[in-house]
Amino acid sequence: MEAAMEHVPVQKTDGPRPGGPLIAPLARAPAPSSGPPIIRTHGLAKTYPNGQAVFAGIELDIRANQRVALIGSNGAGKSTLLKCLIGLLPSTGGEIATLGERFTAMPGPAQMKRLRRQIGFVFQNHGLVGRQSVLTNVVQGKLGLPGSWRAWHQGIAPRAWREEAMQVLAEVRLADKAGARADQLSGGQAQRVAIARALIRRPRLLIADEPAASLDPAVGRDIMRIFSDLAGEHGITLVYTTHDMQHALDYSDRIVALKGGKVHFDRPTARVSRREMDGVFHG
Ligand SMILES: Nc1ncnc2c1ncn2[C@@H]1O[C@H](COP(=O)(O)OP(=O)(O)O)[C@@H](O)[C@H]1O
Ligand SMILES: [Mg+2]
Repeated sequence: MEAAMEHVPVQKTDGPRPGGPLIAPLARAPAPSSGPPIIRTHGLAKTYPNGQAVFAGIELDIRANQRVALIGSNGAGKSTLLKCLIGLLPSTGGEIATLGERFTAMPGPAQMKRLRRQIGFVFQNHGLVGRQSVLTNVVQGKLGLPGSWRAWHQGIAPRAWREEAMQVLAEVRLADKAGARADQLSGGQAQRVAIARALIRRPRLLIADEPAASLDPAVGRDIMRIFSDLAGEHGITLVYTTHDMQHALDYSDRIVALKGGKVHFDRPTARVSRREMDGVFHG
C-alpha cells in the first residue's frame, strides 16, 4: 500500500507482566494519523427498531495501516458500531465513508459489493463449515469475489486459489492441517483458519469482533499477535473489538473507547493511561 507510511511496531508481550507496569512508558511511536482515510463517520447514531438507543454523535477518522482496538464494557455498542461501519446493519443517523464509499443508513447494492471485496471479517464464532476441510474453508474466503462460484469447494477451485490458500494457511502456521476436517480443530486453530479465510481476500480492511473472547488466555494472545503481525506485514488496517484491556493495549496503535453511547476517548495506545482504561469499564 502506501510505501511512505512508516510501520509502527506494536510492542509484543507474552502476557501479563507480573510486577511490571500495565502501560508501557511511551515505548511505542504514536499511531500514524495521516494515511489515506479508511473509515470516517460524522454524527453517527444507531437506535434499534425496538427503541434501544446504542450510540449517537460518533466521530471517527481511521487511517490506513492503523490497528484500532474498539473497547467498552458488555453492551456498550462495540458490535453494533462495527456492523454499521461496514454496512451490515443500518445506522439511524449521521454519515459513514468506508473505503471511499459514502453512505447514510446502509450502502447501496453496488457499494456493498465493492465493500465486501475489500473487507475481511473474523468473528468470535469462527463460522467454519465443520464437515469440510480446512483448505476448502479457506478457499471459501474467496466467495463474493469475481469468479467466486468456484470457491464452493477446493476441488473445483483454480489451482492458483488452492496455492493461495496454502500460502495463507502457512502464514497462520497451519499448513499441516490443510486436509483436516474443520470440526477436528481446537478453538485456537479454528480461529487461525478464520483469519486465513479473511486474508485470502487480500483485504484492505480487516474487521474482527471479539476474535479472542472464547479462547484460553494464552491461545487468545497468540491469535491477537497473529492478527497484529499480519496486519502490519500486509499493510492491512485492522479494527477489532475487545473487552480485554490487555488485548487492547498490546496489539493496537490506537484505542477507541465507547461508553454511555459516546466515544469516551480516542487516541494512540501509547498515550492511554491505566486510569483511563479503568474508567471505561467502571464508574
Ligand atoms: N438486535 C437488537 N435489537 C435491540 N437491541 C439490541 C440488538 N442487538 C444489540 N442490542 C442492544 O444494543 C446494545 C449494544 O449491543 P452490542 O453492540 O452487542 O454491544 P457490545 O458488542 O459492546 O457488547 C446492548 O444494549 C444490546 O442489548
Ligand atoms: Mg459485542
